[in-house]
Amino acid sequence: MPDPPADYQKQSPETAARFCKIRSRDIILSVRDLKKTFPSPEGERTVFDHLSFDVHRRELITIIGPSGCGKSTFIRIAAGLDEASGGAILLDGQPVTGPGPDRGMVFQGYTLFPWLTVKRNVMFGLEMKGLGSLQAESLARQWIAMVGLAKFEDSYPHELSGGMKQRVAIARALANEPRLLIMDEPFGALDSQTRCRMQTHLLEIWKKVDITILFITHDLDEAILLSDRVLVLGVNPGGLLEFIENPVPRPRHPSQITSPEFLALKARLDALIHPPADEGDDDLLPVPMVKLTVAGDEVE
Ligand SMILES: Nc1ncnc2c1ncn2[C@@H]1O[C@H](COP(=O)(O)OP(=O)(O)O)[C@@H](O)[C@H]1O
Ligand SMILES: [Mg+2]
Repeated sequence: MPDPPADYQKQSPETAARFCKIRSRDIILSVRDLKKTFPSPEGERTVFDHLSFDVHRRELITIIGPSGCGKSTFIRIAAGLDEASGGAILLDGQPVTGPGPDRGMVFQGYTLFPWLTVKRNVMFGLEMKGLGSLQAESLARQWIAMVGLAKFEDSYPHELSGGMKQRVAIARALANEPRLLIMDEPFGALDSQTRCRMQTHLLEIWKKVDITILFITHDLDEAILLSDRVLVLGVNPGGLLEFIENPVPRPRHPSQITSPEFLALKARLDALIHPPADEGDDDLLPVPMVKLTVAGDEVE
């Protein structure tokens, strides 16, 4: 398979899809000694420090860690929406210093413009980039078809289910031809059936498009089902705990969640995220033992 042309990102989904088999080991993203602190009443609070890792082109990386460990903070810095307190993130060798069209974002909350149709939502960024409306419309329609919503291009967001809205958000992000797709718990608000369908759908899209994905999730099944590698962040001290190669073979299917490799990785991730609490190191007060009457009154 030849290397894609340097301007492959400027092409249609069909052309980009020809390069779907590229599994280049080129490094696209380098995180170097990244540090983030926030001021707090007790002084400076370090969310993470010495965070360093590389991501290869076309990798799908999932990021997990306990609540508050800095997952969203990290990707806000990667997106250029927040500044690091130290270190750097390099995308294609260039330091990230602000938002840019080389990064697309999909968040948990629905971020479509409610007054625009699906097609207009996807066209919006393309027109902002300076594309003429005919060209923007043609590209938007291709990406809407790619996420399976061709019949809904003239619908408004309120007419769509949560899963469909997130499909539009993915189409809108990909239409701008980013190098990196950054997703912060994008399926977190969906019911479990829709979530499962969206995971399969995202894998189908990722197979067809030359895109590298950073995907934050709380859900270990989701982290394993999607990823090439799972990045585990810790809290107190914050930073990289492990970056684990996922041994579950592709193509992935939800039925794999009971396979031995899947279960072994899940147990390992679970142990990293929920380490056994030290005795006497528990912030929670013990639940008092009281006897209650049938009516719920406390008795001696
Ligand atoms: N703008 C901010 N100002 C102060 N503290 C913040 C700010 N944003 C995030 N934090 C703190 O940084 C830590 C990491 O937050 P976040 O990245 O949202 O965690 P996660 O996404 O892993 O749950 C939390 O303790 C949070 O309170
Ligand atoms: Mg978060």
